[in-house]
Amino acid sequence: MNCKKLFVCYLLLQVCCSLLFAQKNFVVKANEIKATIQPTMWGVFFEDINLGADGGIYAELVKNRSFEFKKPMMGWRVLGLTKTEGDFQVLNRQIANTANPRYMHVTLSNAKRDIGLTNEGFRGMGIKKDLGYDFSFIYRNKTEGIKVHIEIVSSKGTLIGKTVIETTNTGNEWKKITTSLNATETDLKSHLNIWFEGNGNIDLDMVSLFPQDTWKQRPGGMRADMVQLLADMKPGFIRFPGGCIVEGYDLSERYQWKNTIGPIEERQLIINRWNTEIANRPTLDYFQTFGLGFFEYFQLAEDIGAEPLPILNCGMACQFNSSELVPIEGLNPYVKDALDLIEFANADSSTFWGKVRASLGHPAPFHLKMLGIGNENWGPQYVERLQIFTKEIKSKYPDMKLVYSSGTDADGERFNYLNTTLRKMNADIIDEHYYRRPEWFLANAKRYDNYPKDGSKVFGGEYAAQSDHTVSVNNKNTWLTALSEAAFMTGLERNADVVSMASYAPLFAHVDGWQWTPDLIWVNNLQSYGTPDYYVQKLFSTNKGSKVVPITLNNDAVTGQDSLYATAAIDEVENELIIKMVNASVKQQSHIISLEGIKSNAIKGKMIVLKSDHLYSMNSFEHPNNIAPQESEIEIKGKKIALNLSPFSLSVFRIKIK
Ligand code: AHR
Repeated sequence: MNCKKLFVCYLLLQVCCSLLFAQKNFVVKANEIKATIQPTMWGVFFEDINLGADGGIYAELVKNRSFEFKKPMMGWRVLGLTKTEGDFQVLNRQIANTANPRYMHVTLSNAKRDIGLTNEGFRGMGIKKDLGYDFSFIYRNKTEGIKVHIEIVSSKGTLIGKTVIETTNTGNEWKKITTSLNATETDLKSHLNIWFEGNGNIDLDMVSLFPQDTWKQRPGGMRADMVQLLADMKPGFIRFPGGCIVEGYDLSERYQWKNTIGPIEERQLIINRWNTEIANRPTLDYFQTFGLGFFEYFQLAEDIGAEPLPILNCGMACQFNSSELVPIEGLNPYVKDALDLIEFANADSSTFWGKVRASLGHPAPFHLKMLGIGNENWGPQYVERLQIFTKEIKSKYPDMKLVYSSGTDADGERFNYLNTTLRKMNADIIDEHYYRRPEWFLANAKRYDNYPKDGSKVFGGEYAAQSDHTVSVNNKNTWLTALSEAAFMTGLERNADVVSMASYAPLFAHVDGWQWTPDLIWVNNLQSYGTPDYYVQKLFSTNKGSKVVPITLNNDAVTGQDSLYATAAIDEVENELIIKMVNASVKQQSHIISLEGIKSNAIKGKMIVLKSDHLYSMNSFEHPNNIAPQESEIEIKGKKIALNLSPFSLSVFRIKIK
């Protein structure tokens, strides 16, 4: 095509666009309540995937601290020249300590800080200048005078922190010793050296290094920057712990909450099923130590004002893997785990599990109101097991809301079977998952418009637009993925009488240890940043409102006409009208919103915009706010807002109504 023809085409396109985007009048009826938005509406889903817990939010810096990984020395190396083969031995106590059988047995003959151990951390250890670090281990020693020298060494080989521990004779007893040290430099990938001095034997276990700036300064706690990003979202709930890790590759590797509470050295680790799950991203050093266990989970939910939503295994292992099933007659322990968890969360200390919770430092209940049975399970075998769980749980706890899975996909035979069957069972909440292309999200803003409004509610438990395809390692968190999710989410909010909850997935990913993309928040050993998808979630959650009101164009909901999507809600606490609009077109769009049913004569309001001219823009450690919300004032004249919607943008308007 020659230049002249091209120019004519361009002009025609412009004409079409101007016709297409002729000024429109949107109408909001602020006094016409359509639905109640549940306080739980926007939440987060935490799974230990992508080094989300171990190597991520759980701030432990020592990898394989108890030598319990499949390869006992994974993460460790012996330093210096040992005098005899076998000066460092990993011994196994077996039945004397089934939860934590292995430990390191060190033989020293006149050692002068010339032999030792080094730990590489999880892709190195992130160390901050001037921050205090708690080093600890448990040890056993029948000799006096063995000294243990602790060093933090930077990636450049510089000594940036040190301390020394003088051990005493403990006989046959294991003793915990903790000391602290200060770091003199910041470094992303340091490591830990432990040098020995003296004679005799020393046994070591639970070798640990924690930063002191954990969330709420809890010793052995969580990375504050990562928790803060969650807290900033003001999530309505936290779904935990999965995800496929609930199911396990087989049932022996399923998640069992009772193994995740109590003294840390008694929490028996298991392999993380993401260890080898994604062929292109094997993570052979990925185990679950459960430092972030069920007590910490409930505490985290309480800290950030989110409802807990635990997911429990339903007697079925992952159906993509072994599909192992517990026979119905063997289901009782699984059901008991569910009943016991409710007792652990809610009962007083006159009960067994209530007393356990109190003994862990939380006598008050955690007010658990919802429980998920199964993750992505399907088929009649799932329904059969669900029925048993439901009968047992509801007969003891009739008010407990149960979340059922609708399988792995949001349509197809498996989904249709479950969706129909679970609704017939009067499911409280049905969990739907959608990992689809951005086009699907844009096309599905109306998905819930025709769902039944009575009966079972929908939980969009896992969703993320895939820039490539599901489980592709090429997926990116682009502005296009985020914008398409925003368009879809207007449909979730508009149908708040159908959809009671939703959460993006997965939540966290470590740049050096991920298996699955895209992810909401990316971290390295020291920093974390929210993706554009994160800011979409945050904007929806922090501008949720409590009642849906209509926003229409020619009396129709705004579900993609001229690439525009919208939802409106009243915030009854703040007495504000909140309008969210997505412009998924390449053009600036200038329209009018007429505000009906508002009492105030406000002439100013607030506008928060998330936008980028480039659909493939992303955030990064270098530019964490490349795409981030920008706030400004808007004018309201005669109860009308003159809209100026930037190309490819999500805009949130807040206007006083009284
Ligand atoms: O979010 C990653 C995985 O996707 C979850 O573990 C699983 O439920 C889904 O298949």
